[in-house]
Amino acid sequence: MSADVVTLEGVRKAYRLADQAFWALKGVSFSVRRGEMLALMGPSGSGKTTLMNILGLLDSPTEGRYLLAGEDVSGLSEFDRAVVRNETIGFVFQAFHLLPRLTSLENVETPLTYGGYGRRARRARALEMLERVGLADKADSVPATLSGGQRQRVAVARALATNPALLLADEPTGNLDTRTGNEILALFHELNAEGATIVVVTHEAEIAAQTSRTIRVRDGLLEADERHAPAAGARPPDRVGEVRKHEPRA
Ligand SMILES: Nc1ncnc2c1ncn2[C@@H]1O[C@H](COP(=O)(O)OP(=O)(O)OP(=O)(O)O)[C@@H](O)[C@H]1O
Ligand SMILES: [Mg+2]
Repeated sequence: MSADVVTLEGVRKAYRLADQAFWALKGVSFSVRRGEMLALMGPSGSGKTTLMNILGLLDSPTEGRYLLAGEDVSGLSEFDRAVVRNETIGFVFQAFHLLPRLTSLENVETPLTYGGYGRRARRARALEMLERVGLADKADSVPATLSGGQRQRVAVARALATNPALLLADEPTGNLDTRTGNEILALFHELNAEGATIVVVTHEAEIAAQTSRTIRVRDGLLEADERHAPAAGARPPDRVGEVRKHEPRA
C-alpha cells in the first residue's frame, strides 16, 4: 500500500457563477504521508474549504488528479465518492454537525450504518469510540445537553468510528474557547500519535505551530509548504493529562 494517503496533482476547481467560471483552486499539488498531522492555513476565501471538500470527496476537482490511499478518485461518480468517503474519511467541522435528535451514541453510530455492521457491533464500536474521547458517561445525552467541547468530542468519535485513513477537520476549535479548543487539539495529538493522519484547517498560528507541517493557501495556490518541529510546550501538560484521564485502558 502507498505510504501517501493523499496525492494531489495540479488540482484546479472552478465554481460556475452565471456563465462565468471562478477558479477557487488554480493548480494545487502536494502529498500527505500516512501518520502525518498538518495544518492548512490561508486568508478567508483563499480556497481552504474548497480544498478540504475535494480531499474529503464531498466535491471533485475540475482538473487534475487526486489519489487517495493510492487510488485515483478524481473521476468517481457522486455515488462512488460517497461509498469511498464513508470508508476512508472522517470529518470534524467547526459547527459540530451532530444530529440534534440523536443521542451521542446514536450520532457516533451513524457512519457505521452503511458499513455492514450488525446492530450490536455498531453499538459496541460507538461506545468504544465515546470511551476513547472520554464521553462514555454521555452516551445517552442529546447534543443540546452537552457543552461545546463535549459536542466536538462526540463529533471526533463519530469521525473515527469507521477507522478512516484520513481525518479532516475544518476549524475544529473555531466555536470553542481556548481551553476547550486545547483539549480537542490534545485529543488530535493523541490520535495522531496512535497513527491517525490528520489535516486541520486553522486560522490560529498557535495551532499550526503544534503540528509538524503547515501548508499555506492564497488565492487558490499553494503559497508555502513548511515542515517544522512541533512547538515545544504547545500542549499544556495538565490539559493532556485531563483528556488522558478518560482514556480506556489501551
Ligand atoms: N459554491 C460556491 N460557488 C461559487 N463560489 C464559491 C463557492 N464556494 C466557494 N466559492 C468561492 O471560492 C473561493 C474559496 O472559498 P473557500 O470557501 O474555499 O474559502 P476558505 O479559504 O475556506 O475561506 P474561509 O476562511 O472564509 O472559510 C471564495 O472566493 C469563495 O467565494
Ligand atoms: Mg472555509
